[in-house]
Formats: sequence, structure tokens, C-alpha cells
Amino acid sequence: MAFPAVPLLAALLLVAATRLWDYVFVRLVWRPYAITKGFREQGIHGPSYRFFKGCNEEIRSMKEKTDGLVLDVGDHKYLPRIAPHYLEWRAQYGEPFLYWYGAQARICIFDYELARQILSSKSGHFVKNDAHPTLLALVGKGLGFMEGSDWVRHRRVINPAFTIDKLKHGSYKLGKQVFEAQTELLGITMATFLDVPIPGSKYLPTQANRRKWMLETKLKSLLTRIIQPRLASGEHGNDLLGVMLDSCTETKQGGKQQQVDRLRLSLSMEEIIHECKLFFFAGHENTALLLTWSVYLLSIYPEWQERLRKEVLREFGRDAPNPNALNRLKEMTMVLFETLRLYSPALFMQRKTLADMTVGPIKLPKGTAIVIPIPIMHRDKQAWGDDADEFSPMRFANGITGAAKVPHGLLAFSMGPRSCIGQNLSMLEAKSTLALMLRKFSFALSPDYVHAPVDLFTLKPKFGLPVILRPLDNVLI
Ligand code: HEM
Repeated sequence: MAFPAVPLLAALLLVAATRLWDYVFVRLVWRPYAITKGFREQGIHGPSYRFFKGCNEEIRSMKEKTDGLVLDVGDHKYLPRIAPHYLEWRAQYGEPFLYWYGAQARICIFDYELARQILSSKSGHFVKNDAHPTLLALVGKGLGFMEGSDWVRHRRVINPAFTIDKLKHGSYKLGKQVFEAQTELLGITMATFLDVPIPGSKYLPTQANRRKWMLETKLKSLLTRIIQPRLASGEHGNDLLGVMLDSCTETKQGGKQQQVDRLRLSLSMEEIIHECKLFFFAGHENTALLLTWSVYLLSIYPEWQERLRKEVLREFGRDAPNPNALNRLKEMTMVLFETLRLYSPALFMQRKTLADMTVGPIKLPKGTAIVIPIPIMHRDKQAWGDDADEFSPMRFANGITGAAKVPHGLLAFSMGPRSCIGQNLSMLEAKSTLALMLRKFSFALSPDYVHAPVDLFTLKPKFGLPVILRPLDNVLI
């Protein structure tokens, strides 16, 4: 009886040995060597690959060194705090340069034309780079991380929700708990960001993994509690969630799953839950940061604060802000664009090649990641002029296309088919909130404010942004 087990065991051992050989020798040794050589032949250099860890230890130590830097209030040159490795490697190896995140080759580009070609490519061969597993638990496998026909289907279902009449609010109390769970997941993501994952380690019951699983379950249960009452009442609502529920195959025909063509405009409940995670995070985090940095800039440039206040009073007087009047706030739009340029909440966009590709003069082997460092490109003096490090909203006097020497200079919402679906919404939210604030208060930075922007996936003020609000005389409410 034991006899047949021997060949089976031998076969299993052979499979395991082949896998191990492929992982250790091909992935961790041979491929990095061959890729480095291929790029060197194209004149592209960078820091050396180190077995398994790539350049992660170097990045960690460079970031630790600059983490203590504090800037003068009003000094916008914070790049060494958030991207010391990119700055140092660019100075040493030129651009673009090659570096290693574990065993993944990454090319960091700074050229607007290359970025345009990659971001606007419709070939389907530049896809989103693999996301950190905790980040995926936090934002879900929704629109932001989908590709191909699934992405088309989701984007088509969701797009109509971003018309103005559909922009409403959901359940605040449960929503707050969703944000809290996501904030904790983000903390775990950032703490483990430079740890190279050992294959299979995400399944081990480590303390961080167990916490992650717990938060993931909590997130799903909170979102289900937001969705269920709408399903039970049969009133899906007219907002983003309503639009997604209307498309849901599982809510139709008395709750029975319909046989549907995957390409038709429908989402499953599982997919809706993933989208909710993304929209809770993207919708809250980035707009909140746009407002945070706008308040910071308007506090240190009081002349602009006063200009915007006058504009708001001129356009609205005592009326409640409405979308049409908000669109007339020209100077406020200029200030928000300049805020997005100097303090873009989104930092480093990443794509990955699905096949061997050529972009401009660069040949990229399959699987290479491409990093597009938004904050560094936003300081490019050739594109933005010698005052690229200064706050100068007037550069946007003729809109985005006239502001830089390249038409797509402002990358804060990205560009091309994968550009931000929520950009109009977030501009409207930021304008209406700022308008209400400016009408009621004048504001200045608290003396406790410490200027230390930090990369926590998005750009945040490391020690918060304490401000002093002074109610205005003759307040117009
Ligand atoms: C100031 C506010 C915002 C900024 C700076 C911002 C920035 C961005 C950027 C840079 C991308 C492209 C990421 C990439 O391709 O790697 C993106 C995509 C996305 N954003 Fe935003 N975003 C903002 C607000 C919002 C809001 C309010 C929502 C939703 C309510 C939202 C939802 C999304 C979604 C779903 C995507 C993925 C789109 C796709 O892949 O088709 N964002 N955002």
C-alpha cells in the first residue's frame, strides 16, 4: 500500500524544488542581474540590487535621516523629507534611474512626455502596480485597482453618480467608524511598507495580520450595515451608493442572482462593498487634505485669504453656495490648483508593464514598475518656471493648460482614462467648505504649528494643522 506514495512524494518534491529554484535563482538572482544589464546597455543606471531586499533598506535609512527635518513655516521645499531617495538617486544617476523594491525593478521617470504616454496609453499594457496587501484591504479591489473589461464596466456604472444632483451624504456615524478602521489599516500599511513580503506570509497569523483581518471584517460589516437599510426599504437613493445598488444583480428579481452578461452594466454585492471602501477612503482623505493645505497656504498668505473672502462675498453675499456660483469663483479655483501643485495629496503614481514595452527611447521588460513622482514633477523648473517652489496662484489665471509649459503639467488628479473620477466633486466640496469658512472666520496658523509634510501614502502635515479661527464682524451666514 505504501509503494504508490513514493513516486507521488518524489513528484511533489520535484515540483517544490522547481518552484524554489524558480523563486530563488530566477526571480531573486538571475532576473535582477539580466534586467540591470539590459538597462545599463540603454544608459540607465541606479543603486545596486541587493539579494531579496532590493533597495528597501537604503530607502528606509535615507527616510529615517530626513524624517527629523523641520521646515520654516512658508518654506515649500519639503521634497527631501518625503522623497530623499529619489532626489539623491536622480542627482547621482541622472534620469530616469532604475531601483529595486525587493526583487521588482522600478524605473523612476521625471519627464512629462513619458508620463503622458504611459498615463494616456490605451494599450492595456500599462496596468496599476501590485498593491501592498494591507492597502488592498483598506481601499478594496474596486475601480482603482481593476483592469480591462471589469474596469470599463465599473467605471460606466459609477460615472453617472458624479453628476452634481447625485452628490449627497450617507450615514455619518457608521461612516466615521469606517474612516477609523481605514486609518488604522493605513497605519499598518505604512509601518510595513518597506518590508519585502516573503511569499505566503500574508496568510501567517502574525500580530499585524490578525489585526488586519479583524479590521477587514469590521469594515465589511460596517459597510453592510450602511447598505442593508437601503436594500430593505427598496429605496436605493439617488447618490453613488444608490446608482451602484440599482445596477446590482443580486437586488433584482426578489433577491435572486440573475444570469447576466459580465460586460453589461451590473455590479455584484461583493463588488459594491469593494467600491464603497475605495470611495470612503478616496472621497474623504484626499479632499480633506486639499482643504488642509489650502487653509495652511491661505493662513501664511493673508493677502490671498482676503482676496478670496472678497470674491466669495461678491459672488454669494448671504446666499448659500450653489454649484453654479461656485464655478464662478475664479480666484479660489486658482488657489486650489496652486495648492494641488505645491501640496498634492497624491504622491507617487505607479504602473507596471504587462508585456515588453517601449516608451520614448526606453525599452521596459515585462513586469517593470514605473514610478511617476507627482510632487517632484510639480517643481520642475523647465515646466513651471523659476518660481516653481513659490506659491503663485496667478500662474493658473488662464486655467490649467496655460499654467505650465506642458499642457498636462498639473498631475494631482492624474490624466488619461484612469484619471480621478472624483475631481469635480472634490473641487466643489473644497470650494463650498472654503467659501463658508471665509465668510464666517479669518484664520491664522497657531504658533504651535510645526511645518513637516510627511508621506503617509498621501501628503499629510506630520503634527496636524492647528489654526486659530477669529469670527468676523458682521458675519454673513
Ligand atoms: C483632492 C482630491 C483628490 C485627489 C488629489 C485625487 C487624486 C487621484 C489620483 C492622482 C488618481 C489616479 C491614481 C492612479 O492612477 O494611480 C485618482 C484616482 C481615483 N480617484 Fe481621486 N482624488 C481626489 C478625490 C477623489 C474623490 C472625492 C473621489 C471619490 C469620491 C475619488 C475617487 C477616485 C477613484 C475611484 C479613482 C480611480 C479611478 C480609476 O482608476 O478609474 N478621488 N485620484
